[in-house]
Amino acid sequence: MDNASEKRKVILSGIQPTGTVTLGNYLGAVQNWRKMQEEFDCIYFIADMHALTVRREPQEFRQTSLSFFAQYLACGLDPKRSIIYFQSHVHQHAELQWILNCNTYVGEASRMTQFKDKSAKHADNINMGLMDYPVLMAADILLFQTDLVPVGIDQKQHLELTRDIAIRFNNRYGQTFTVPEPYIPTLGAKICSLQDPTVKMSKSDPDPNAGVSVIDDEATIVRRFKRAVTDSGSEIIMREDKPGISNLITIYAAIEGKTTDAVEREFEGSGYGDFKLKVGEAVAAKFKPIREEYARFMADKAYLQQTAAEGAQHAAYIAEKTLRKVKKKVGFVQF
Ligand code: TYM
Repeated sequence: MDNASEKRKVILSGIQPTGTVTLGNYLGAVQNWRKMQEEFDCIYFIADMHALTVRREPQEFRQTSLSFFAQYLACGLDPKRSIIYFQSHVHQHAELQWILNCNTYVGEASRMTQFKDKSAKHADNINMGLMDYPVLMAADILLFQTDLVPVGIDQKQHLELTRDIAIRFNNRYGQTFTVPEPYIPTLGAKICSLQDPTVKMSKSDPDPNAGVSVIDDEATIVRRFKRAVTDSGSEIIMREDKPGISNLITIYAAIEGKTTDAVEREFEGSGYGDFKLKVGEAVAAKFKPIREEYARFMADKAYLQQTAAEGAQHAAYIAEKTLRKVKKKVGFVQF
């Protein structure tokens, strides 16, 4: 990033490294992240500290996190243009989180939908981190004076809490943080499961047929789309009572860069079977180069290591500037 970029907007986002990058993550987030690199100063990290809120087997967690880094690069995130790193490599995230914790109410954190959902799902492990999760997210965002946060719709509530925390802190201590805005795509903000189109496609879905990932092979992708659950009737049309077909139309439109109206016209008179095949083939074609690049990156661990180290160093440099300012504002002794 050069000096001329000083006035450019700062973009930041992350994904928890569990499973693999899904079609939902890709259309809701990563596809936009890649495009935003052309116009903005972008910071993309692997949210490995967030992932620890659910029990992980250490060996597998390490492997998955590294694989995610390679998937980021394979999706076109470019370390020459953007800062790409592991959250756990930049200690400023946790440090700012503590200070923000002291400016966040338990009531606010416990009202978060994701906290309630995850508490229900992991009833035997409702740890402090699960509740503190959105405050860490606020620290991620506020550390870098972020303007825009490209995420899917499920993160909107966390973004609102981040804004509340930033505004409260600025009011109490004087202007410190940029108040960020969410950037939610009009198409692809909520991609649904291929097996139950009333719920979002999720990395942690135990049914492998529920989603596809950017590194699945073509046969797997096409097979899963062929098996996708559709609705009664035969028309290929976006309608509330047709969640299955609406989801597939959305996916096809977002992958091909078309409007949903154009997709409806394109498939007028086609049957569900043909349409599902076409959507599967389009997704498979889009992900083929990603899978190939991924294999190339995974074969070069030294490059991954060096790129991650440079990313963390750059991120820490920027983060430290904010953290120093925050420590001063709250009254910590500084010599
Ligand atoms: P995570 O890992 O659940 O999801 C990563 C991104 O993918 C989006 N997404 C979807 N978009 C459309 N359809 C879907 N089915 C779908 N599933 C997931 C999510 O909205 C998200 O943008 N808390 C975050 C990670 C995070 C973060 C941050 C994000 C940590 N710190 C700071 C932004 C800024 C999370 O768990 O995302």
